[in-house]
Amino acid sequence: MNSLTGKPISYWIDSTPKTSFPTLSNDIAVDVAIVGGGIAGLTTAILLKRAGKTVAIIESQKMVTGVSGHTTAKVTSLHQLIYADLLQDLGIDKARLYAESNQAALEQVAKFVAEENIDCDFSRRSAYTFAESEQGLKKIEDEVTAALKLGLPACFVKETSLPFAIAGAVKFDHQAQFHPRKYLLHLAQCVQGDGSYVFEDTRVLNVEEEKTSCQVITDKSVITAQEVVITTNLPILDRGLFFAKTYPKRSYIVGAKIDPEQAPEGMFIGSGERYFSIRTTPDRNGLLLLVGGGGHKVGEISKTEEQYQKVEDFARVRFGIDTFDYRWSTQDMVSFDNLPYIGKLTPLSSHIYVATGFSMWGMTKGTLSGMLLSDLILGINNPWANLYDATRATPFATSEGIKQTISVGMHWVGDRFQGLEKSTLSEVVSGEGKLVTIDGEKLAAYRDEQGSIHAVSAVCSHLGCIVAWNSAEKSWDCPCHGARFGCDGVVLHGPAVKDLKVYEP
Ligand code: FES
Repeated sequence: MNSLTGKPISYWIDSTPKTSFPTLSNDIAVDVAIVGGGIAGLTTAILLKRAGKTVAIIESQKMVTGVSGHTTAKVTSLHQLIYADLLQDLGIDKARLYAESNQAALEQVAKFVAEENIDCDFSRRSAYTFAESEQGLKKIEDEVTAALKLGLPACFVKETSLPFAIAGAVKFDHQAQFHPRKYLLHLAQCVQGDGSYVFEDTRVLNVEEEKTSCQVITDKSVITAQEVVITTNLPILDRGLFFAKTYPKRSYIVGAKIDPEQAPEGMFIGSGERYFSIRTTPDRNGLLLLVGGGGHKVGEISKTEEQYQKVEDFARVRFGIDTFDYRWSTQDMVSFDNLPYIGKLTPLSSHIYVATGFSMWGMTKGTLSGMLLSDLILGINNPWANLYDATRATPFATSEGIKQTISVGMHWVGDRFQGLEKSTLSEVVSGEGKLVTIDGEKLAAYRDEQGSIHAVSAVCSHLGCIVAWNSAEKSWDCPCHGARFGCDGVVLHGPAVKDLKVYEP
């Protein structure tokens, strides 16, 4: 196996300046506090600020370095294959609302870019979902039929600019792609000022809801807000049980220079069991090809270099790529019923709102979350509110829901008994992470290249599952609800808000 060569950082992050928004240093009050500095939070913030509200965005790390900083950044209502299923499962009215809301989100992004004159490589492209074999063709044709019935700009094609043959594809015209950090950091600058704030390196630990307002408790100070919006990929508050209505999925992206003459024109995604996502982006030195794939449930694969390798192999074979400039991975919460959860946290909450379950299509769903949440807060009727109602009946009974519930149960119970026999830190070799049991305590231990051991509790600080090693990212990932921790136990990704306890021998 070839070793991985690309720079291990998202191209979007590497090609934009680091941010330096302030940390919350004293108690403040605003109309709306928004937890999470990605596309859903920023869209909500800017729309509320334009409507006259004061807002504060609170980001635990740096702005737009989470899922929104690691996306493929396709702004499209073509979500691989979904419309035939939605028509069958939900009927034409609800399927049409899904189509319309995602198209509206695409146009909202275009509107912000035009109004704010945002230099973010925004360009209109066609989006395609393709089948390489005849067996996959029926689903493509069904998708075209369903999309046309819903008024979407769809057609069936057999020819594309991809350098390999396909059996057929569904094509949506007039979709878009952009540089997500250039776009979102511009919005962040617009949010700040006139009584509104953007805070970085400030972790929200809890939100206490009172009769007429909320207290947002952070690791620094407290923010008092009339309304609170949680846009942290999976909500950091467990009250809405969103961790039981979704599952976390990781995927991998590589970036490589490509000759513009050889580059495909448009945004593509395959179909079937093993599929890849393809687009290009302008780079300072020319054009980068971005290929994504290798998806799996978080924590289920430890040798994650192999997932990168699969994506690289596809790029090598299909596009003749020799060397790679970038590689990064990301994850998103997949909703069991294909719909995101956007609205009130629980049926009983009056002032706390959430958005989650974007199922890997967060650029439009994050944007439509901001549009819908800002309307809900402003008391404006929004036709999408019922469809995406975050308190709707939980579809545990879907096949994916049942599988996930069983899988979480097995991890929660079964992982505790694995390897309970005594082991020692000396069994952990250089560059490797391993679960070891010392004095009955389950530890996640990593030995760095210099030979030093970094050992932390293996019990996830969210709800107590046992974390699993992710070798390519050198992180401890929780297979239950997707929290991730560094080798030093520091939270990298929620829903956990507390670090793993450092082991003191
Ligand atoms: Fe929920 Fe780990 S993320 S138990």
